[in-house]
Amino acid sequence: MKKILITRRLLKACEEKASKNFETHLNDNDELYSQSKVIEMSKGCDGILTSLTDKMDAETINKLPDSIKILSNFAVGFGNIDIEAAKKRGIVVTNTPDVLTDATAEIGILLILGACRRAAEGIQSAKDSSWKWSADYLIGKQLTGSRLGILGMGRIGQKIAKIARSLGMIIHYHNRSKLNSEKEQGATYHDNLKSLLSVSDVLSVCCPASKETINLINKETIEYLPKGAVVTNVARGDIVEDEALIEALDRRKVYAVGLDVYKGEPKLNSGYLKHKGAFILPHLGSATKETRTAMANLAIDNIEEFFSTGKCRNTVNE
Ligand code: GLV
Repeated sequence: MKKILITRRLLKACEEKASKNFETHLNDNDELYSQSKVIEMSKGCDGILTSLTDKMDAETINKLPDSIKILSNFAVGFGNIDIEAAKKRGIVVTNTPDVLTDATAEIGILLILGACRRAAEGIQSAKDSSWKWSADYLIGKQLTGSRLGILGMGRIGQKIAKIARSLGMIIHYHNRSKLNSEKEQGATYHDNLKSLLSVSDVLSVCCPASKETINLINKETIEYLPKGAVVTNVARGDIVEDEALIEALDRRKVYAVGLDVYKGEPKLNSGYLKHKGAFILPHLGSATKETRTAMANLAIDNIEEFFSTGKCRNTVNE
């Protein structure tokens, strides 16, 4: 039986599935392991089921025992792993695409609604009993007829587009390449970021974090947005330069933000905390029972597939 280190606690049924198929090292207390602890605990193991909270940088990967052949990441994003460093050591890295598309898109839409309709202020006022209905109370931005700019029209971006279209939004997107018309569903393609941002009444950041996308939303690019735009991020905090976004909120260049992900999570820039216009969630994108179960099962299946066939269809560093 292959020995697998599972760095974070999974839903019970998934841990049971893993333990049927492998000799598992579980993390019952869901402790956040340091990089050196992951290295230490992986001694004698054949693979590691990692989570987005595990920073598997080149230094860590280079210190893993030779027996480790696979890092099966429990996420669709794999910005936490230096996939090239893993490749150099002959370690396969896999992810969990598809199964979390719907749940993450739901949160993407919640961010758009929450930011546009001033949900953060509304919730606070309802809790404080500090409100009365009036014709001009907490007036927000209506989605119908607004232009939604999607940065990264992959699976999640396409699903957000589909729901947003049904809410009457007009869809624009920027991607490395133009999609076919079936996937585009009438959305307008922009071959550069500036062009997309200039028509984004609402922006939804859906692209993976990579060397190319780090700090893509920054002091300079925020200026391309229309005045009073809404910025939402359901992808990764690394794509946004927080200081620039907070400063844009301060001077009302940006009307509101809807964020589920942050640089250096679980910490987040305190500037967001005091902003009325910040609708913020604690990285809930894939957090439903169905989805977390499907993700963990897929992460386990990826390991199985790899050890039984020598390959895995969800490999990201081939
Ligand atoms: C969640 O953020 C994921 O990448 O799966």
